[in-house]
Amino acid sequence: MNEFQELSFSKCVESNQEGVHPDLEEAVLKYLKLPFLRPVAAHTQMAFEEANGFISLFSKPVILDSGCGTGESTRVLAHKFPENPVIGLDKSLQRLSKSELSQFPPNAKLLRAELLDFWKLVLEAHWNVAYHALYYPNPWPKKAQLGRRFHAHPIFPTLLKLCPNLELRTNWEIYAREFEHAASLAMPRLGIPMKPQLESWAPSVPETAFERKYLASGHLLWRVIFLSLSL
Ligand SMILES: C[S@@+](CC[C@H](N)C(=O)[O-])C[C@H]1O[C@@H](n2cnc3c(N)ncnc32)[C@H](O)[C@@H]1O
Repeated sequence: MNEFQELSFSKCVESNQEGVHPDLEEAVLKYLKLPFLRPVAAHTQMAFEEANGFISLFSKPVILDSGCGTGESTRVLAHKFPENPVIGLDKSLQRLSKSELSQFPPNAKLLRAELLDFWKLVLEAHWNVAYHALYYPNPWPKKAQLGRRFHAHPIFPTLLKLCPNLELRTNWEIYAREFEHAASLAMPRLGIPMKPQLESWAPSVPETAFERKYLASGHLLWRVIFLSLSL
């Protein structure tokens, strides 16, 4: 498959799972009790310090775009919230380098970082995060890959505590169902008084490169949201 085909067409997610993973609840409950102790990677620590300097230039809370890929959604969010600093994070320099930075407004910043480490640093630093976009994370669809999905990983409590307004988008219904189920289990136990909502949806204009590809390929899209403010 050449690069054009890769960008324009995508097969639906294939999995040997037929529904929510039978081990999901056990993983979620286990990681509520076990802190995520992995040391922070040096490049992510530096990215965090750069982000800290950037957000200090603004009086409004932060918007995080985690796993931003080429940064299209970071640009969209920065235009939508012109007074807030919008931080797009991705571990892939290759994807980040495809962003057309000249079209980014000054309140947007893209950084190469490992999400798990960055989220930990954000929580420790008590950043005021107004909205967290988690658009089309890697699904890790094989049954044996459950532990690689964010909602079945020790980082999940940190992710939930980061921000009271989160939107997860995916083209794999099982991922959305699992995320909603995991969040419904964990949030009351973490004292977070919100109820995640799962819905199928279709944006009128795609906001990310993967969203465009999935829509063009006829996929159904799903999202899980918990919002304490109207955006
Ligand atoms: C399927 S792509 C979606 C990209 C973008 N959100 C979009 O919709 O076009 C998932 C992205 O998450 C990034 N990613 C996955 N795991 C990550 C991690 N642990 N830390 C940082 N980035 C990660 C990948 O590099 C990739 O760009």
